[in-house]
Amino acid sequence: MALTLVTGGTGHLGRDIVDRLVRDGRRVRVFARSPGLRSDVEWAAGDLATGAGLREALHDVDTVINAATYSPIARRGGVRPVDFFRSPSAVDVEGTERLLSLCGQADIRHFLHVSIVGLEQATLPYAQVKLAGERRVRASALSWSIVRAMPFYYLLDKLLSSLAWLPVWPVPTTPFNPVDTSDVADHVLTCAFDGQRGVRAEIGGPEALDLVAFARQYQDARRLHRKILPIGLSEAKARGMGFVVSQGVRGRLRWTDWLQHNYPGMRSTA
Ligand SMILES: NC(=O)c1ccc[n+]([C@@H]2O[C@H](COP(=O)([O-])OP(=O)(O)OC[C@H]3O[C@@H](n4cnc5c(N)ncnc54)[C@H](OP(=O)(O)O)[C@@H]3O)[C@@H](O)[C@H]2O)c1
Repeated sequence: MALTLVTGGTGHLGRDIVDRLVRDGRRVRVFARSPGLRSDVEWAAGDLATGAGLREALHDVDTVINAATYSPIARRGGVRPVDFFRSPSAVDVEGTERLLSLCGQADIRHFLHVSIVGLEQATLPYAQVKLAGERRVRASALSWSIVRAMPFYYLLDKLLSSLAWLPVWPVPTTPFNPVDTSDVADHVLTCAFDGQRGVRAEIGGPEALDLVAFARQYQDARRLHRKILPIGLSEAKARGMGFVVSQGVRGRLRWTDWLQHNYPGMRSTA
């Protein structure tokens, strides 16, 4: 049976991708620094930043889904001053390049790369790193797809939670449409196996609301009472920070549904 390798298969999106591949009866190998315990997939130990284990991980593989990343902001769940100056590229740029090169030597039929909506206008160094990784994919001779997604709900949750200690929350009034990883994983699977290639429809969440509304719904779910100070941003500034509304495919899960699931007992905002 054709084998699919998932990098980042232990991450938030990667786990949802792996779940769906297994559910669909596909043979799956997960490339991970620390192999996990689930027994319905094969595990390949390795490190994208050094290339360790990559060649072996590609043995017999037909399709690669590259969902690995190293985002300091997502890892710690908060933005620090250093994030405005630099972001490590060893996984997203050099790691992607290494993976592409080895895929070129193996018999890979499709390389699907996960990326982010609006990278061209975004100014954070992490966005520039993601853009550089994407460019490596576009320049490769492989048969590739790129799927761009809006920020994930889990990240919005972490970022808003990092404000919890503040009595007043400065929140941009800009509209955007974050999305759940479950919806992104569904779209990634469609794109991985529908026979089409290239830059695929981007995916965002079902609702484009301003960030103030997302923050209010979050406070309701967490039973927090913080004053929200709405901050107007110019369109260029908002785009620079990644606040855009995606085109293309819309996921189904709303932020309030995600909150209800993750913070059971929340007040209804209906
Ligand atoms: N988060 C968002 O809001 C968002 C929005 C749009 C698109 N995306 C994109 O979606 C993809 C997945 O994002 P995510 O938020 O689900 O990521 P995540 O939860 O931070 O997971 C990242 C994954 O990459 C793996 N990884 C990190 N460094 C590695 C290395 N040196 N070698 C091998 N694997 C390594 C991690 O494994 P370990 O457990 O070993 O660290 C983990 O499995 C990325 O391409 C990201 O840019 C994310």
